[in-house]
Amino acid sequence: MPTPSRDLNPVSPENLANRVPLYNELRQTDPVHWSDAMQAWVITRYDDMMAGCRDPRLTGDRSKFYERQVQALGPAAIEGFMRFARLQMTTLDGPEHVRVRRPAQTAFTAQALEIWRPAIRRITEELLAPLLPSGRMDLVADFSHLLPPIVIAEILGVPPADHQRFREWSVALGEFSSPAPGKDMREVAERANVATAELGNFLLTASEQRRRCPGKDALSHMILAGDEGKITPEEMLANATTVLVAGHLTTTDQISNSIYDLLTHPEQLRLLRENPRLMTSAVEEMLRFSPAVTTVFRVASETFQLRGRTIREGDLVCFFAGAANRDPEHFPDPDRFDITRDFSQQRIMTFSFGPHQCLGASLARMELEIAIELLIQHMPGLRLDPEQPPRRKSGNLLFHGFERMPLQW
Ligand code: HEM
Repeated sequence: MPTPSRDLNPVSPENLANRVPLYNELRQTDPVHWSDAMQAWVITRYDDMMAGCRDPRLTGDRSKFYERQVQALGPAAIEGFMRFARLQMTTLDGPEHVRVRRPAQTAFTAQALEIWRPAIRRITEELLAPLLPSGRMDLVADFSHLLPPIVIAEILGVPPADHQRFREWSVALGEFSSPAPGKDMREVAERANVATAELGNFLLTASEQRRRCPGKDALSHMILAGDEGKITPEEMLANATTVLVAGHLTTTDQISNSIYDLLTHPEQLRLLRENPRLMTSAVEEMLRFSPAVTTVFRVASETFQLRGRTIREGDLVCFFAGAANRDPEHFPDPDRFDITRDFSQQRIMTFSFGPHQCLGASLARMELEIAIELLIQHMPGLRLDPEQPPRRKSGNLLFHGFERMPLQW
C-alpha cells in the first residue's frame, strides 16, 4: 500500500471542511480503509460502492450503532425512537424490506410524482414572492430549509396549518440520526423521542381521516396497503416518518450546495441561463459534484474479504458517495464542474444504489429543477453577498451543506 501523503482521518475538522483531497487520497492509496477514528471501514471507489450496496453480506440494520450513540444514557432514553427505527425500511433487508418499502414507493415514482409538479411550482413561487422586493436573503433560512418539508407535507396530504410542526419534528429526528459534534446527546435523544411520539399521534389521526376520505396523497397509498394487510399500522407510521425525515434536510442541503456551485462557476450559470434545456444534466452534475449525503452506511452480517482486507461480522462499512462520484474511472476530469456532462451511460452515487437506493430521488430531482429554474429566473443578478461569506455546516460526516448563505440580486 503506498504511503499516504496526508492525514486520513475522515472526521478530522480539516478533512470534513475540505473533503475532496481526502477522497482522492483514499481512493488512490487505500480504497478499503480502516478508520480508527470512525471505528469503521471507508470505501471510496465507485465500483466497490456499486457492488457493496447490493451485497447481501451487508445489512442496513444500524440499530446497534444508534444504541451506541446514546450508550451512556441507557436504552430507555431512546426507546420510542428505536421502536420506530426497527420498523423502518432503512434498517430492513431482503423480502421484508421490499414489503415495507413498496407502499411508499408507488407514490414516489417519476411518473406518479408528475401530478405534484404544479403544486411544487406553486409552493416555490409562494416562498420566493415575498423575498423578491428586498434584493437579499439567506438562502438556507429563507428558502432551502422551507421548501422540502412543505413539499413532503403536501405530498403526504398534511394541511398547511400543520407544516411548521411537521418541520420541527423532522429537524429533531434528523438531528438524532446524525448529531453535530458537541451536542448534548441526552437532549438530542429526548427531542427525538418526543418528536417520534408527537408525529406518531399526528399521523395516526391523519390516517383515520384519510381512511374515511382517501385522497391521491402518499399517506393514502400507504394506508391502503395497511388495510390490505401488506404492512401493519405501526410500519405505516414508522415509514411515513422515514419519508419525511429522509426528504427534508437532504434536499435542503442539496439546494444550497447546488446554488453555491452555480454561483461560484459563473460561466456555467451563464450557460444554463442561455440554455434552459440543460437543466436536467445541470441538476445531475450538481448532485454529483456536491452531494448533500456523502456517506452510505451498512453493517457486515458475515466476515468476508474485500481488496485483501478482512471485513468482520458486525463491522460498520461506510461508502463515501462523494468519493465515488469523483472516481476518474467513471467520470472524466471529475473535479471539473460541467453542466453539459453526459450522464446517459453513467449514474451518480448520490442516491446510492441497489435495494435501498433513495426512494425520493425523482422528487429531489424535480424539486431541484423547479427551485433552480425559478431562483435564477426571478433573481437575474443572483450572487453571493460579498460582505457576508457563506458558512458551511461543520463536523457532520453524513450531511454536507451550509448553515447560512447570504445572497443578493
Ligand atoms: C437531494 C436529496 C436527497 C439525497 C441526496 C438523498 C440520498 C439518499 C441516500 C444516500 C439514501 C441511502 C440509500 C442507502 O442506504 O443505500 C437515501 C435513502 C432514502 N431516501 Fe433519499 N435523498 C434525498 C432526497 C429524498 C427525498 C426528497 C425523499 C422523500 C421521499 C427521500 C426518501 C428516502 C427514503 C425513504 C430512503 C430509504 C430507502 C430505503 O432504505 O429503502 N430522499 N436517500
